[in-house]
Amino acid sequence: LLIYNTCSIRDLAERKVMGKLGKLGRSKTRRAIIGVTGCMAMAKKESLFRKMPHVDFVLGTNNLTDLNLVLDEVLETGKQSLKVDDQFEENLNYLVAKRDDPVKAYVSIIRGCDKFCTYCVVPYTRGQEVSRPPESIEEECRMLVDQGYKEVTLLGQNVNSYGKDKPEWNCLFHDLLYRLDKIPGIERVRSMTSHPTDITINLMQAVRDLPSLCEFVHFPIQAGSSRILKKMHRIYTKEQYIEKVEQFREILPSVNLGTDIIVGFPTETEEEFLETYDIFKQIRYSVAFIFTYSPRKGTPAFRWKDDIPQEVKDDRLQRLLSLHDSITQEQRQDMLGQEIEVLVEGRNKNNQLKARTRCWKNVIFEGSSDLIGTLQTVKVHSYSHQTLLAGPVGELILPSSKLALASSNL
Ligand code: 5AD
Ligand code: SF4
Repeated sequence: LLIYNTCSIRDLAERKVMGKLGKLGRSKTRRAIIGVTGCMAMAKKESLFRKMPHVDFVLGTNNLTDLNLVLDEVLETGKQSLKVDDQFEENLNYLVAKRDDPVKAYVSIIRGCDKFCTYCVVPYTRGQEVSRPPESIEEECRMLVDQGYKEVTLLGQNVNSYGKDKPEWNCLFHDLLYRLDKIPGIERVRSMTSHPTDITINLMQAVRDLPSLCEFVHFPIQAGSSRILKKMHRIYTKEQYIEKVEQFREILPSVNLGTDIIVGFPTETEEEFLETYDIFKQIRYSVAFIFTYSPRKGTPAFRWKDDIPQEVKDDRLQRLLSLHDSITQEQRQDMLGQEIEVLVEGRNKNNQLKARTRCWKNVIFEGSSDLIGTLQTVKVHSYSHQTLLAGPVGELILPSSKLALASSNL
């Protein structure tokens, strides 16, 4: 049984799956049952069978619980099966999820997106925003903590919209965070992903006040020019975005921010790209996912000419990536000598312990396997590429001339 769980956010992700499926179709050996799930299933539906006649089933994002049924159907009848219902399975049994990672768990809190940015397929593949009842989320988090999980990441296409579709629950995103923080033993709560417009003062205060809530917030700007933002239908201007960031930093100066950026959106000029570059430099994001624009069928932007040549898109991407590199390098430099709390996640291929700070920075250090799944305080003594190197608290800091040596040893 081969299941391709797919993403359709950019063209490349889709092309990879289509390439692999095509290859399977040409294979002469006895073949497995082949299924496609996820966003491509929602976007392509029965047309997948036309393009790939050897695919046995197509299962939409809201039909996960139909997997057994569909498999039985395919095995019994030998016919292709399609299930891509639009309605949300509100009573999905989340508690049966099987998790491989013993330390961190992902918990769905809302699905769908009502924002309709002009480049994005998500509102079409994931549908309208539907929040999951807070009691059910609390139950799952309590169960995870009982099982020994230390970190929970709350998931949704726009977590900050949580609860807006169900005003009768009286539980918006920050209310949910206050409720989860009360669960004894919950050490770290994170979330992914959000829209800047829905980041409220209440949420900023929650990040400041709740011990479990990590001081890292994803705050995706997408572009730094107000004209491009308008064309993207992001519903904020550059000035409104910057004002919100300043407000957040007033409330909690140590907050770390992450972003998503698209370069080469239709008609983006060099000057407009430089506005994105300058804002990046000004805000100094600690995490950034940077993409070149990819036209998606069914979105409003698909009708516009994709007029920025690929070389120009790639060049803008590279410039932003190097800026991001130099900023995160400086941030790591600033952390030398600091004692930081890390959650130990496991071992890397060099058999060192790998861990994460509350603000999502990678840390490695030597230690016994008993530490996996625990919170430890370590002291940063050097860094290498994307990773901080640490040792026990009280260890001497290496003189700077030895930093290069430490990095080259990795
Ligand atoms: N082209 C390039 N990047 C895109 N994203 C969404 N749609 C597209 C697209 N058509 C990016 C956005 C979003 C992230 C998940 O993917 O930056 O925040
Ligand atoms: Fe897509 Fe995010 Fe915009 Fe929703 S808010 S349409 S998920 S980019």
